Amino acid sequence: MATFEFHDKLYKKFHKFFDDAEEKRRWHPVKDVPWDKINKDVPDDFALCAETFLGVESFLPDYIRGGLTVVRASTLAQRWFAANWGYEELKHSMALTEWLLRSGKRTEEQMFDFHSSLMEEEWQVPFNTARQMTIYGTFQEMATFVIYLRHEKLAKEFGDGALATCYRLNARDECAHAKFYEDVVKCYLDEDREATIADIAFVAANFQMPGVGIVPDYDKRVEVMREEGKMDRDFFLKKVYFPTIKHWGITRQELVSVAAARRRAARANKPTTAETPLA
Ligand SMILES: [Fe+2]
Ligand SMILES: [Fe+2]
Repeated sequence: MATFEFHDKLYKKFHKFFDDAEEKRRWHPVKDVPWDKINKDVPDDFALCAETFLGVESFLPDYIRGGLTVVRASTLAQRWFAANWGYEELKHSMALTEWLLRSGKRTEEQMFDFHSSLMEEEWQVPFNTARQMTIYGTFQEMATFVIYLRHEKLAKEFGDGALATCYRLNARDECAHAKFYEDVVKCYLDEDREATIADIAFVAANFQMPGVGIVPDYDKRVEVMREEGKMDRDFFLKKVYFPTIKHWGITRQELVSVAAARRRAARANKPTTAETPLA
């Protein structure tokens, strides 16, 4: 059971997050993108990448339902964050859809078919506790932020100011989401450091991006994205995992100790701290 201090800290963090969003980060996915700066001659791979991002973003109903279910019994701040998060994520899909249509890379019929085919699959919550999902959210949002930034740079290089703006605005939101989750994980660490580190090790070992297995032709799409955006496992570790672990103030030694304890517990067939969550 989470302490009053934990609830109170998260409540204040959510208010700060919300105030910053209202004052500095609100944007309109149609009105705030300079559509006259579209370059219709960008390579078709750019459209495939934008469509893949859109595909991943499009499982929003599942993310909201799954995310809210997991945090429902945790804290008010996490429930409110999940609701606000859904609204912000929706705009990412809107902006990418607009670009795909206005650039002429996709027709309305193609977009309709794409969205219909996406909903034949369903995203399943990868972890079952609020703490593990918060850790997962930190990695996932930070990875998405980094990927969007790289694609913003590419769009700029190829002279598409509209697509670059879509990616920049999306990236800014993803960064804010990652930072909120990152702060919440710090609070979890303050509450129960050993169990939270065990959860971090568990989530890192089982982490995969949300589109895997549900966006059509995901593997082929990711190959193109790796070509275009140079994102691979090493890059993920360097740009996402290690900086985040450092930010949380966790040493490699702590992670190694927790992993060793997990192995010992598995051998003795005992539940580990990662399976006895705070919330
Ligand atoms: Fe997003
Ligand atoms: Fe996000």
